[in-house]
Amino acid sequence: MTQTHFGFQTVDEHEKARRVRAVFDSVAPRYDLMNDLMSAGLHRCWKAYAVMVANPQPGQRVLDIAGGTGDLGLAIAPRVRPGGMVVHTDINLAMLREGRDRLLDHGIVLPTVVCDAEQLPFPSGHYDLVTVAFGLSNMTHTELALRDIYRILKDCGKRMVREYSHCATALRKA
Ligand SMILES: C[S@@+](CC[C@H](N)C(=O)[O-])C[C@H]1O[C@@H](n2cnc3c(N)ncnc32)[C@H](O)[C@@H]1O
Repeated sequence: MTQTHFGFQTVDEHEKARRVRAVFDSVAPRYDLMNDLMSAGLHRCWKAYAVMVANPQPGQRVLDIAGGTGDLGLAIAPRVRPGGMVVHTDINLAMLREGRDRLLDHGIVLPTVVCDAEQLPFPSGHYDLVTVAFGLSNMTHTELALRDIYRILKDCGKRMVREYSHCATALRKA
């Protein structure tokens, strides 16, 4: 069996997928609040910075992978108008539902697709921009997800991955 990481633990890769699903199933209704509390609101700045760097343009096709409750979709959708589109995706239905409802509350309707980033159901060379915020570390085979991201990007397309980095060992113990 192949071992992988779940937080600071080493677990079997099937066990990781199961735990990730269970975590997001259970936190979905409280995810936004939890995110604000755990990052002291900083995730909003990190995402705003990521959108600024990704610099989406009117008319572009954008895919948000592991989009969860839709923060990036919310920020990017107005920037690709007119003529563009953001597709909001996640493997977890509960997270996507929260996101869809939240986007609707802001008057934004996005195509929403439940899918695994490791096997994206989209044609090759289709997107101008692919975004992933804090999703890659939750995936079991990140190399498969990255390979599929490159596959679906246009030749001149852009990929924006926002992720936590590792903290120093001393801090990790604390
Ligand atoms: C920490 S949340 C990030 C949500 C959102 N992008 C944000 O920044 O608030 C991680 C998300 O990754 C999703 N996820 C985990 N594994 C996935 C996979 N293999 N394919 C697609 N999404 C996945 C989870 O369901 C969860 O919604």
